[in-house]
This record gives sequence, structure tokens and C-alpha cells, in this order.
Amino acid sequence: MHRLSDLAAIDAGHRRSARRTSIRPSTQAIDSATSTAMLRHALLLALVAPIAALKKVLVTGAGGRTGKLVFKKLKDDYADVAPLGLARSAKAAKALKAAGAAGDEVVAADVADEAALAEAMAGCDAVVLCTSAVPAIRKRSLVKLMVKKLLRRPDVGRPEFSFPPGGTPEEVDWLGARKQIDAAKAAGVSHFVFVSSMGGTQPENFLNTIGKQDDGSGGDILLWKRKAERYLVDSGVPFTIVHPGGLVDEEPGKRELTVEVDDVLLGLKSRSVARADVARVCCAALFDDAALGKSFDLASKPVGEGTPTLHAASVFEALAGKTCDYATVLDDPPLFFAGLVAYALSEQISPHHYGPIGAASGVAFFFLRLWCVRSYREHVAERRRQRRPAGDDDGDQVLEPIVAAKGGAAPSDVV
Ligand SMILES: NC(=O)c1ccc[n+]([C@@H]2O[C@H](COP(=O)([O-])OP(=O)(O)OC[C@H]3O[C@@H](n4cnc5c(N)ncnc54)[C@H](OP(=O)(O)O)[C@@H]3O)[C@@H](O)[C@H]2O)c1
Repeated sequence: MHRLSDLAAIDAGHRRSARRTSIRPSTQAIDSATSTAMLRHALLLALVAPIAALKKVLVTGAGGRTGKLVFKKLKDDYADVAPLGLARSAKAAKALKAAGAAGDEVVAADVADEAALAEAMAGCDAVVLCTSAVPAIRKRSLVKLMVKKLLRRPDVGRPEFSFPPGGTPEEVDWLGARKQIDAAKAAGVSHFVFVSSMGGTQPENFLNTIGKQDDGSGGDILLWKRKAERYLVDSGVPFTIVHPGGLVDEEPGKRELTVEVDDVLLGLKSRSVARADVARVCCAALFDDAALGKSFDLASKPVGEGTPTLHAASVFEALAGKTCDYATVLDDPPLFFAGLVAYALSEQISPHHYGPIGAASGVAFFFLRLWCVRSYREHVAERRRQRRPAGDDDGDQVLEPIVAAKGGAAPSDVV
């Protein structure tokens, strides 16, 4: 059985052979430097190179569960990396410091803040995006469920979730991610690792229903993430995109990791993966050319099945050149914005304000809004019909760990 320190050494050591553009001076070069001049040169290199060659890596969402592990791994196991963690709030920044980050290794900023992003990314060689909209359980829905359970009602239902204002999937997973990609491009970042999620090819995935309003707006977290991924792919910034399955808080290196593309792994029974293993894969990607330009799904076999994956970078070889096909990625939620604009205008241009013309425009906007919502719903229904994979379930296995980690009841626990 490998100890964690062995695993760290394996992951950190493996990349030296994997990446030709190693930024560490080779000790062999020093060994072979026999003449005094060469020895002096090598010594000078040894003194100067580690400082000059430090790779600066910004980890966003570093106050989150996966982000914190990525940050810590880079700091503890990669001697030639200078990590910088971006946490949303002062509270999250404090938690990151408590986990071992030095004061100057943490920036507190929201990803909506373009100026803060530009400042944080200045001089960075790489970025690991670990931000995500975070759903919260509606407490009232839990109370309702408990009452129904107590009354032994058969239709107990599921807990309801919502996103806080400013923290919806559209705002964080699309607009926030886009701002990070833009800032990375402007800063000349040479590798952008994006931690996203499996299920992005399924509009009907249960995760997309979280925060969904009656008019069809809101939610769609996996679709907004995929939209941001496409933006990254088209941006020209060298990338690696990881789609983990259900995240669990377990020790790294205990399971055999499985990789595939285009949600194929959702057809398997075991679709979960340890956050610590996701962190290992993200860190390894930063040092392995085989990870460049790849977008893939990551899960693992149950503990005790298969052989634990000791070289995180071996997953890139296991992909055998495959990468997710973004040509088959679904359309964006299409007419929602048009509906919103129509709604806002119909509210503003009322008969009260502008007389008969205002009344006519208000009515027109009202019908436009109805049309937008209807066509959006039809579009989603059509996509569901076309895309539902045979024998698909509703993606609870991806959701359950989120719910459990937030101290709530998993949907299957309450049904
Ligand atoms: N949970 C699962 O089972 C599962 C499955 C597959 C994929 N994933 C994906 O894997 C990734 C990592 O998941 P996780 O559970 O480790 O994440 P997490 O703990 O929920 O962390 C998300 C982080 O994003 C930060 N964040 C949110 N909005 C932000 C904003 N506007 N500005 C700056 N930071 C912001 C949060 O800050 P605060 O700490 O201030 O809230 C939090 O630290 C996510 O993309 C998630 O969707 C999760």
C-alpha cells in the first residue's frame, strides 16, 4: 500500500519525464559538468533557475472543496510552483490561510470583478478554475418534507434548491468563467485547466433542474458550464477540461480512475471520484503535454475493484487521444434573454405611462414574452426527446454527494 507522501512524490516526479519543457535544471547536467567553468555555470543555474523558473498558478474557487485541495497539492508537492488562491470572500480566504496558505498567496475576489481577475492573473503561467455556482437547500422545503414524512404521506417529494442572488449558474458558471478565460488570455496564460462536470450533454439531467423557475428560466448549471467550456476551446488559450462524476471526500490514490468522453461514463454504475484525485489530475495536467487540448470525463471504480491509479498523469495516456466532441454540445438556453428584455420593456411601457401607443407596445411585448417562454420550453422538450440516452437515470448519483456534503438529505433518501 502506498503512503500519501509516496503518491505525492509519484505524481510530482512523473511529470518530469512527461513534459519535455521541464522547468527544473537537470541534476544529470550538474553531474556531467566536469570542468570548473561548467561546474560554476551549473551552480549558478542551480541558484538562479529555481527562483526564475517558479511557475505561477492561480487557483480560482480556492476556498471550495476541490479548489483547496488543488491549491494545497501545488503548494506542498510541487517545489517549482508558486500557487495563488482566489477565494470569493474574506471568510473563504481566511479558511484557505488556515489550511496552510501564506497571506500573500491568497486573493479575496469575486469572479464578477474583472479588475481583480486581471490583477490576480498578471504574471501567471497557468490557471486552474474550480469555481462553481453553489446551490443551497431551501430550508422551507426540508421542513415540508419532514412534515410529510412524519405524516407518512406517500408523495414526500424532493428537497428544493436555489441559488443565491448573483450566484446563479448563468452568472458564475458562464459569465464568471468567461471573465476568467478573458483575463487569462489577456495575461498570456499558457495553460487553463477547467474543472467542470459530467452530464453536460444531458439537458434533462437532474442538476439542470436546480434553481429552475416555472417559466423555464434559471438552473441549467451543466449547460452553462458547457457553454463556458466551448468559449475556452474557441479562445485559443491552451486548455485541459475535466468533467468529474459525483465528487466524494476520500483520500487520493485509493481507486482506479476511469476516463472517457461525451458522458459515456454516465452509463456505468460507479460514477464517483474523490475530490483529492481530481486535484491530482489537475496538477498533473499542468506538467503533461498529453493533457493539452483535452476535455474528458473522470470517474473511478469502487474501492477494492481494479488497481488504484498511482500516476495521475496516466489518465491522459488512457484517453488515447480522445477528447469530448463539442460539435455535439447542446445549444444554449436560446430565447431566455429575449424573453427577459421583452418582460422588462412590457413592464416599463405601460398604458399608464404612454397612452394608447404604450398600451399597444405593452400588449405586443406581453405576447412576445409568452412566445419566448413557449418556444424555449418547446426547444428544451425537443432536445430532451432527441438526447435522452437509452436506460438513462436522472443523474442523482452526480447530485447526491453535493447534497450530502451540504448536510442535507440526498433525493433518494427522502423519496
Ligand atoms: N459536487 C459534485 O458531486 C460534483 C460533481 C461533478 C462536478 N462537480 C463540479 O466540480 C467542481 C468542484 O466542486 P466542489 O464541490 O469542490 O466545489 P465547491 O466546494 O462548491 O466550490 C465552489 C467554489 O466556487 C466559489 N465561488 C462561487 N461563486 C463565486 C464567485 N462569484 N466568485 C468567486 N468564487 C466563487 C465558491 O466560493 P464560496 O466558498 O465563497 O462559496 C466555492 O469556493 C464544481 O465545478 C462542481 O460543479 C461537482
